[in-house]
This record gives sequence, C-alpha cells and structure tokens, in this order.
Amino acid sequence: MAFAHGSRKTDSKTVLVTGAAGFIGSHTVERLLRDGHRVVGVDNFRTGNSENLASARNSQNYQFVELDLLDQPAFERTMRAVLPDAVIHLAALVSVPESIENPAENFRLNVLATERVADCVRRHGVNRLVFSSSAAVYGNDSRTPAAEDVRCEPRSPYGAAKLACEALLLGYARTFRLTVRCQRYFNVYGPRQDPRSPYSGVISLFANACLAEKLLRINGDGQQTRDFVAVEDVAVANVLAATADGVSSGIANVCTGQATSLIELADTFERLGGRSLVREHGEARAGDIRHSVGSTERAIRELGFHADTSLEKGLADLMGYLRA
Ligand code: UD1
Repeated sequence: MAFAHGSRKTDSKTVLVTGAAGFIGSHTVERLLRDGHRVVGVDNFRTGNSENLASARNSQNYQFVELDLLDQPAFERTMRAVLPDAVIHLAALVSVPESIENPAENFRLNVLATERVADCVRRHGVNRLVFSSSAAVYGNDSRTPAAEDVRCEPRSPYGAAKLACEALLLGYARTFRLTVRCQRYFNVYGPRQDPRSPYSGVISLFANACLAEKLLRINGDGQQTRDFVAVEDVAVANVLAATADGVSSGIANVCTGQATSLIELADTFERLGGRSLVREHGEARAGDIRHSVGSTERAIRELGFHADTSLEKGLADLMGYLRA
C-alpha cells in the first residue's frame, strides 16, 4: 500500500483511523487530510456510512480498507502494509442503550476489538494510539465539572467497557514503547450524526424537529445539563492527540467546560430559527444523568486543545448543513 509520489510533507504523519466512516471518524479523517497528513481509513460499515467519506476520497493522501477489526489476519495485513505513525481507534458499538440490550456484543466490539487493535499496534512498533473513550465512564458522580482523576463508576456496559479499555491501554503504554491517549468525549454533535436512530443525540433530534416543524420532546423538567462539544473540535482534539510533538500517555476530557440545560438548548434553537417551537415535557428518562460537564484543564495542558466552537455557532452550522 503506497501513497502517490510527492505527497509526503516533512512534518506529515501517516495515521490509520478505525471507524473512519462514522460520525466522529469521518470528521477526524477530513481534519487529518486538511492538516497535510496521510490517512488510511478502515471501517466495516456496521454503523458507518460510506457517504461520510465522499470528500476524503478526493484526496491523494487518503486510502480506505473495508475490514472488520475482529478479522485478525485482515487487520494484521493492513497494519503491516501501512505501518502508520499513529492509530486513532474510533470503531465501536456507540450506543449506551444497545450496550444494555446486548452486553456481549458490547464486550466484543468495545473491549475485545480494542485489545486486538492495541496488540497489533504494539507488535508493529506503532508509536501512538488514540482511544475514543467517553464521559460515560464517570457515571452519576454529582461533582461537576468532572475532572479526569475522580472515581469512575460507569452505569452501563458501554461506560464500563470504555473504562476497562482505558486501564488496559494505559497498562500497555507503561509496559511497551507506546504512547496512549484516552479521549473522554462528552456530548458530541454536528453534521452527519444520524437522527433516525432511536439512540440519536438530543441535538440531532431537536435540529430535525425544528426543520420538520415538529415539537421538541423534553424528557423531564429540562433542567438537566450537558457539555455539548462540536464534532469539528473533537476532530482537532484527535489530530492533536495523534500527531502533536511531546505528548505523553494519559487521559483527557474532550469537552467545552460549559454546561447547557435542555431548556437553554431549546431556547438557542428558537433564536436560530427565529420562531417559537412547541415543547412537550415527558417523563424523565430512566437512568439519565442529571448534570454532566467536564473540566477542560487537562486537555489544554497536555494536548494544547481548546474547543473553539460556541454552541450558537455549532448549531447554526448544523442547521445550515441540514438545510443544504
Ligand atoms: C451521551 C452520549 C452517550 C455517552 C453519554 C456520556 C449521545 C447521543 N449519547 O448520552 O454516548 O455515553 O453522553 O455521559 O451523545 N433528551 C430529551 N429529548 C430528546 C432526547 C434526549 O430531553 O428527544 C434528553 C435526555 O433525556 C438527556 C439529554 O437530553 O437528559 C441528553 O441526552 P442524549 O443526547 O441522549 O445524551 P446522553 O444521555 O447525555
């Protein structure tokens, strides 16, 4: 597997991205390419969508391999052929409710596949591995903003799997010559987030309700808060974690540090749309976390990452994308 002659920039890296066709994956691929890196995307299209990679396919620095990470020989072949400088591992079972309905599948796709990736990375002497962790590792700790060193008590198989992987990967990092960055994503939103899934994030549901002039369904009193981070900013955090110089192993939140209640979120959509929206309050959702906001300090210190997109701008961009 070779890239077109002349495509190598002195400071550019080769990065293998798993889950490349997914929501966060495709934005991460685009950002890597924009920054002059070479990218090999892999995906099995379980939940990813090939259309998400339409613009990446125009780049001579981009290649794609369709494979399942649990198909060990296929992944092995790809790793051997590419020998990337870094791997960004985003392929996962991404739904908390699905992890509760099918914990065995959650284990296979979130824990087993991650171990396979880490083992392959280690054996091929890849220097850096970036792992997609989640704020779901924190559980229902009432102390906010959540800092990375609080006690984690995940409330779902999904959160438990992410926490287990963090421990495993950081253990590998201490044992082998490998830098591991665990990225605890908070509530990520933006273009390409699929609103049709029953597990869709509240922003994609509200955005589509706005466009279809349907009512906004608010679970409970709407005073629960979330730390909404734009997917473009998450992509920047991933690129920094994979390619920045002088980065050592560790865990950092990927968040804005801003708490937004669902009422405030609905108000922002109203302001953007220039009209009032009908809101319907239902029962609070079982298992819902009341407040979730992250501390930004460690990501700033260890990665030089700061989420620059305001919620207002991120939502305006999303509405523009959906209208187009
Ligand atoms: C999110 C992530 C999850 C992650 C968790 C970490 C998404 C889609 N999910 O879950 O992967 O593990 O953070 O803490 O980003 N709501 C409504 N109306 C709706 C839909 C949702 O009121 O139509 C409410 C929910 O009840 C909840 C809030 O909006 O209080 C956010 O819900 P959601 O977007 O599903 O994300 P989380 O539950 O925070």
